[in-house]
Amino acid sequence: MTMSICLEKKMKPFIVVSDGFDKSLFEELRKVDGLDVYPKSKVTPEELSLLLPKVNALVIRSATNVTGELLDKAPNLKYVIRAGEGTDNIDKKLCAAKGVKVSNTPGANNNSAAEHAFALMFTVLRSTAQAHQTMKEGKWEKSKFVGYELWKKKIGIVGFGRIGKILATRLQGFEPNIMFYDPFCNDWDIPNVKKVDNIDELFKNSDIITIHVPLSDKTRNLVDKKLLGLMKKDAIIVNAARGGVVNESDIYDALKAGKIAGAGFDVFESEPPRADFKLKELDNFVMTPHLGASTAEAQLRVGEMCITQLQDFFLHNKLVNEVKA
Ligand code: MLT
Repeated sequence: MTMSICLEKKMKPFIVVSDGFDKSLFEELRKVDGLDVYPKSKVTPEELSLLLPKVNALVIRSATNVTGELLDKAPNLKYVIRAGEGTDNIDKKLCAAKGVKVSNTPGANNNSAAEHAFALMFTVLRSTAQAHQTMKEGKWEKSKFVGYELWKKKIGIVGFGRIGKILATRLQGFEPNIMFYDPFCNDWDIPNVKKVDNIDELFKNSDIITIHVPLSDKTRNLVDKKLLGLMKKDAIIVNAARGGVVNESDIYDALKAGKIAGAGFDVFESEPPRADFKLKELDNFVMTPHLGASTAEAQLRVGEMCITQLQDFFLHNKLVNEVKA
């Protein structure tokens, strides 16, 4: 009897959740019959390294990079779920070559990501983060923080996929003039929106620019010195999509020289940023530590999808939301 239980346990796919998971859902996941889930929903890189030799499935967010080095240590890995949208932290080609399947949870956190872009816009437009900081320091600098309104502004959305469209929809109360650049989108049903075929036009004419493209070889450093140089002096830019799409050294120069009014980033070329990250020195730059998907609601939706997808994969032989190389 004991032996058969042991054998059964040994056969169960071993799942490691490395970058956090909704607490109550994690308990639910651990109760799924047929899966053996490591009892912590967040592990250190050192812990992960020790677990890798026997792991069959990894559930990750943006902190774990599925690289050749990781894959070499995980000979039994069959499945990686990105609990979120972007899979740029997964070497999908190598996964395919090693027979490791990859999926994500499309749509689950999109509303939160769009709302976070909103939060960054307002923070930059009204300097709320900086003003808060000065009050913590006991100051009352009312005349220092004169901002800009969002109402009726020209908003440029780079990338008009699910998140870009949610943002455009939520913005409607501000009677915006929205333009978007996205060569792949020819279909939308949202008022006050026009498509531009040339990204330069968007950068020249927008008051607020917001990035909503994934990171790929085509989008890395898409927003560089040249595009930033086209922006109006009082325009702002926010990036809650992916670090590396906006060149950090170029935006530092533009902000430092006062060529644009401000910027707000949730994502960075390196996360966490390296010690010599210069943008943090600037008063017209605000930052958050990749919080776009970090809401209770999004993490519930993401977690529910992960649990279903793990069961589908290991118990029903079904791969849902596959992301191909
Ligand atoms: C995503 O790509 O969905 C986000 O980066 C979510 C996250 O923070 O995990």
